[in-house]
Amino acid sequence: MKIAVIGTGYVGLVSGTCFAETGNHVICVDNDAQKVAKLNAGELTIYEPGLENLFQRNTKEQRLFFTTDLEEAVKDVEIIFLALPTPPGEDGSADLSYVLGVAEQLGQMITSYKVIVDKSTVPVGTAEKVAAAIKKNAKVDFDVVSNPEFLREGVAVDDFLKPDRVVVGTSSARAQDVMHRLYEPFVRQGNPIYFMDERSAEMTKYAANSYLATRITFMNEIANLCETVGANVDEVRKGMGSDNRIGRRFLFPGVGYGGSCFPKDVQALHKTSVDNKYDFKVLKSVMEVNNKQKHVLSEKILKYFNNDLNGKHIAVWGLAFKPNTDDIREAPAIYTIENLLRAGAKVTAYDPEASENMKKIFEDRVNFVEHRYDALKEADALAIVTEWSIFRTPDFSFMGELMKEKVIFDGRNLYDTELMIDKGFYYNSIGRNT
Ligand code: UGA
Repeated sequence: MKIAVIGTGYVGLVSGTCFAETGNHVICVDNDAQKVAKLNAGELTIYEPGLENLFQRNTKEQRLFFTTDLEEAVKDVEIIFLALPTPPGEDGSADLSYVLGVAEQLGQMITSYKVIVDKSTVPVGTAEKVAAAIKKNAKVDFDVVSNPEFLREGVAVDDFLKPDRVVVGTSSARAQDVMHRLYEPFVRQGNPIYFMDERSAEMTKYAANSYLATRITFMNEIANLCETVGANVDEVRKGMGSDNRIGRRFLFPGVGYGGSCFPKDVQALHKTSVDNKYDFKVLKSVMEVNNKQKHVLSEKILKYFNNDLNGKHIAVWGLAFKPNTDDIREAPAIYTIENLLRAGAKVTAYDPEASENMKKIFEDRVNFVEHRYDALKEADALAIVTEWSIFRTPDFSFMGELMKEKVIFDGRNLYDTELMIDKGFYYNSIGRNT
């Protein structure tokens, strides 16, 4: 099939590449000429494990193209994906100006029937707004479909190629047939394609992300309470998670959820509820608790050092909002480091991928190092903020030699508490202190 993907951000680039991988002819459009030039020169613009191979193969085999020319890109295609940014406006609602702006242009450009697909996370009712924007100028038939994306950064390629489910919102049988043909190769193992109305599809995405954010937040509160009552959240998590109705995944407490999706989507769904005069109390609490949780690690450090970090050197491992990405949007590390600096600490930080992005925020206020052990030299404490695999089995003896004090604050519960005591560390983690 011939497909155009408008927007070569995270979702657009992964989707376009994966659609090409299943044999489609894909043309990706972006108005950022520099980005398009880079992609055309064979250079990926995001870091995502597994994407490079697919990107190189599909560009080489001439199934994947990049252009700034929207009109040319959409001329011969059957399906047009909108993978455009929907940043939060000041009141938390998703800003649809990019999506609707492109929709208006498409109306003028299309000369034959097209299926136009919302891939961006957009509020309930957007498909209708997009259809109205296209209709203003359109002289041919088209259908607007809502097809939310559920991929996770870091495992996006796998999530896209082997989705748990595909959600397609459309009231048109013609569009349904097109979407079925497109996604059939992705669900060969028998996973479902759910066809539903547009509004339900839009709501599904917000409900899924907000539920997962709520689940994490619930576990963060259980962890905080475990610390107070002397229980171990690891044991509680296992005991809970083995109930099939609950399940084991996404029950890991930590320093709060971050990233470009959960914070934005919880906020936007809350805004939708406010706009519709529905008081969504759970979501309000989720946002409040998560904002607090991002400060938990730095608060523990401050308490340990009697609220004075002047002259203290704190090492930080992990800057990305989660492992296997260089993304630092809403990363708990930002809040942790800011609090440490404010209390007078000298901060040395290491991350396998995200240092460059973090440098843009902290500049020379933080010393960024190339190797994880370099951060530890003469450190009074280590704060672990992201659970990269490289941090899981370090050489504790060497760490002890490098550090001034053998003190670890672990925001991701990477190590066994007994082992750390054996190794002579003061070890403070989330919800399972000894
Ligand atoms: C999330 C969803 O998981 C995807 O399904 C969705 O498609 C995507 O948002 C999106 O809307 O585009 P992502 O933001 O890439 O994906 O990252 P997650 O792996 O979901 O992690 C989100 C945050 O939750 C991270 O800060 C992570 O550290 C935290 N988390 C996750 C926990 O604190 N505990 C857990 O058990 C799991």
